[in-house]
Amino acid sequence: MTSDAQPHAADLLGHSSTTLRRVSVALGERSYEVLIGEDLMKQHQLWAPLIQGRQVALVTNETIAKLYAASVREALEPFAANFIQIELPDGEAYKDWQHLQLIFDALLSHRFDRRSVLVAFGGGVVGDMTGFAAACYQRGVDFIQIPTTLLAQVDSSVGGKTGINHPAGKNMIGAFHQPKLVLADARWLHSLPERELSAGLAEVIKHGAIADRDYLEEVLANMPALLKAEPAALIAAVARSCEIKAAVVGEDEREDDRRAVLNFGHTFGHAIEAGLGYGVLLHGEAVGTGMVMASELSQRLGLLAPSDRERLLAAIKAARLPMQAPAWSTAEYVKWMSVDKKARAGRPRFVLLKGLGQAFMREVDEAIVDQSIKACLEQPARN
Ligand code: NAD
Ligand code: GLY
Repeated sequence: MTSDAQPHAADLLGHSSTTLRRVSVALGERSYEVLIGEDLMKQHQLWAPLIQGRQVALVTNETIAKLYAASVREALEPFAANFIQIELPDGEAYKDWQHLQLIFDALLSHRFDRRSVLVAFGGGVVGDMTGFAAACYQRGVDFIQIPTTLLAQVDSSVGGKTGINHPAGKNMIGAFHQPKLVLADARWLHSLPERELSAGLAEVIKHGAIADRDYLEEVLANMPALLKAEPAALIAAVARSCEIKAAVVGEDEREDDRRAVLNFGHTFGHAIEAGLGYGVLLHGEAVGTGMVMASELSQRLGLLAPSDRERLLAAIKAARLPMQAPAWSTAEYVKWMSVDKKARAGRPRFVLLKGLGQAFMREVDEAIVDQSIKACLEQPARN
């Protein structure tokens, strides 16, 4: 678990990469970079200075540990003063206090101090839990994100939202705590199940829809390559998505206002996710259907042209995401939507599109919400 071995200076030069993309998240003294490419663990110079001579805890889950933890450990351990690996069970069901405690137990039993660094190696669940543990442990230690799902690379590893679920609501307990670095490596995505890839594409499509219509068209054109997990297509999408997210987070880190646009499709999406029961649909799948519904609402309000909505629906369909809203009453949708974090005094607020690439948030008359929901129940089923 521990290593005294220090790397040779020449190792710090690492390997060159032809595909490395860098995105800065500009937050003053909390600024950091998202590095996007392939074989980033071999490029020691990119990350070793952040862990050199420090106590390092690699936090992962049992699935990712089997696939990749040995190689990541081999890369990190020589630079660390002391190295431990913490393995969580796999699944959203374990994103809770009880399993967060496993991280604190391990850190304390190995006498990790305030200069320790946690490394989150996994999807959004591992990233959110590790980030929250880093925010709390001894009142805050550094952490690095190594996201292994597309969703985590384009969304959850960037922006510093960390946390766990409470039985009364998803992500209800948490903290803003920015990582020191994000290493988004396309190599990990080769083993990602197709359904998880599609779920990540929902957030990619969302970024185009809220901020960059040309990007949405590019994603649509590249969909076959993205679905085949071709590295060049993935690296381009992760980089552009991270640029869009970084710009929004740089403007409004703590979601006082503007950052809410990153929740396009999520008001309906969270309602679907919670109403069906967590785990029936993946988060990204629920967001796909949520974008179908939020764009219907935007069109009905006269904000989004039908032809623009068609382009968005084409992208959601091409990504093989579900498009059929559950056949619930409006009252059922409103019940679930009123616990959304954007709600004010129990009244849901919606992120809407006033054209592709331009998002904003507002309350909407209940009658129009009702009409939109009913219209979406009539959408054809996926593909
Ligand atoms: P996840 O972390 O559950 O990962 C999905 C599945 O893929 C898991 O079974 C995981 O073990 C497996 N997996 C991960 N990487 C793999 C790989 N390379 N090869 C094979 N299998 C792999 O799910 P997710 O979609 O990454 O993240 C969802 C979580 O992220 C939710 O808890 C959500 O609330 C959170 N989230 C957070 C933010 C944020 O801003 N913090 C944003 C969006 C979502
Ligand atoms: N995923 C939404 C946000 O980071 O704000």
